[in-house]
Amino acid sequence: MNDVTLRGALEIIACVLFLVGLKLMGKQASAKRGNFISAAGMILAVIVAVSASGVDYLTIAITVAVGSVIGAFAAVRVKMTAMPEMVALFNGSGGLASLAVGLIELLPGRDVEVVGRIAAALAVIIGGVAFSGSIVAFAKLAGKLNTKPIIFPFQLTLSGLSAVATLVIAGFAVPHDAHGALLVVLSVLSVWIGVLSVIRIGGGDMPVVVSLLNSYSGVAAAFAGLALASPVLIVAGTLVGAAGLMLTGAMCKAMNRSLSNVLFAGFGATVATGGTAKAAGEVKPITAPDTYALLEAARSVIIVPGYGMAVAQAQHAVKELAELLIENGADVRFVIHPVAGRMPGHMNVLLAEAGVEYEQLAEPGDVNPTMENVDVALVIGANDVVNPDAREDQSSPLFGMPIVDVDKARTVVVSKRSMSSGFAGVENSLFYRPNTRMLFGDAQKSMAAIVAEFKQA
Ligand code: TAP
Repeated sequence: MNDVTLRGALEIIACVLFLVGLKLMGKQASAKRGNFISAAGMILAVIVAVSASGVDYLTIAITVAVGSVIGAFAAVRVKMTAMPEMVALFNGSGGLASLAVGLIELLPGRDVEVVGRIAAALAVIIGGVAFSGSIVAFAKLAGKLNTKPIIFPFQLTLSGLSAVATLVIAGFAVPHDAHGALLVVLSVLSVWIGVLSVIRIGGGDMPVVVSLLNSYSGVAAAFAGLALASPVLIVAGTLVGAAGLMLTGAMCKAMNRSLSNVLFAGFGATVATGGTAKAAGEVKPITAPDTYALLEAARSVIIVPGYGMAVAQAQHAVKELAELLIENGADVRFVIHPVAGRMPGHMNVLLAEAGVEYEQLAEPGDVNPTMENVDVALVIGANDVVNPDAREDQSSPLFGMPIVDVDKARTVVVSKRSMSSGFAGVENSLFYRPNTRMLFGDAQKSMAAIVAEFKQA
């Protein structure tokens, strides 16, 4: 077998490892194995690529070692809640790498076919957008940039004109041996479009944007693969592109918002209106001892965590409470709304960290049909995802978003600090319903107080 055939065979094995790994990641039980298998595929792909590059082995070893140490350090150090920031940074690096590959392939004197040159130009444009968009997303998520949408007059027109200019320059650079300065202008314009596109999106929508940029960085990598005639890069890039797009679609669907609404509406720039008409009635506070009494008598309990549980870091106290309820003979389920919190899988990650069994988790669709049989729905720092106006009030910005129908349970206890609104900035009529009790205070302290009551009894 000659070198080229061996390389091709190893690249196919790497692609198969990516596919198998991705498939295994679809289930929680096999996700860890899937991650390792995909990583093995990536190591194989890197070895094949660098062995064919002609670069000396010492340089390769040093760069791989530096990259691995930075990656491992970042992965170990990062807090679970800062995961979207880290993903944004990694997306940005991927975009920058594709931009660099595209630029090199467009340089004068390179012997690249026209298809390869078109792919290289697209790698520069999409890679540039993914790079700068991800850096802006990182800065917004990390609070280093104003999290409010930054909107100014004629912003969309400016973006459109920049996009047209980018395409014209790319159109010139593909058939000709472009001057280096023109390629620099092409890169700067692409980076500029990424900045313009992402600054107008609010910090709360950044997880959706990071997922979309993840898809862009995959597509850019696939075009870079086409320019380099590297099948493994094409496959890996396409997988990332498709997965990112699917996650973006799933998140938009769970929020009942279109992608264009996320990208162009400037959600959060102004205070949301609507959805306040039904927020009338009496607010009935409850104390921790009284909540204990309710829970102690309950046979069926659901726990609905939300962003506030993450803020309060109440997951350990919640898990302890769930164990005490089970010991007391209650049926306990955690109901996770797909967009509870601020990042995909936010609640799953926190509950897994606290040691909650995967079997105890349920989706809204599993529980909603039988909600009338639930004795107590304990809502912990969730707000928008349990707002019944999403079902009933057409004027609410949340209207149409599937929710956890806790209002249909016999009794609802909501643990939060005040009557403040959640991410969408709208009032929640749940808090005024006759079967709702408000347990005011920090969620961790409230849960610890109920646990203490259980232990005393
Ligand atoms: P939210 O509607 O944001 O409500 C969170 C609630 O937590 C707040 O009303 C707040 O009330 C309470 N809270 C904050 N700190 C607390 C503490 N220390 N103790 C107790 N409560 C505390 O949360 P949700 O129901 O999880 O909904 C998520 C929202 O984010 C949805 O609108 C969703 O569309 C949006 N979103 C989600 C994602 C993803 S991927 N998950 C991405 C972008 C946007 P107090 O201030 O009164 O305590």
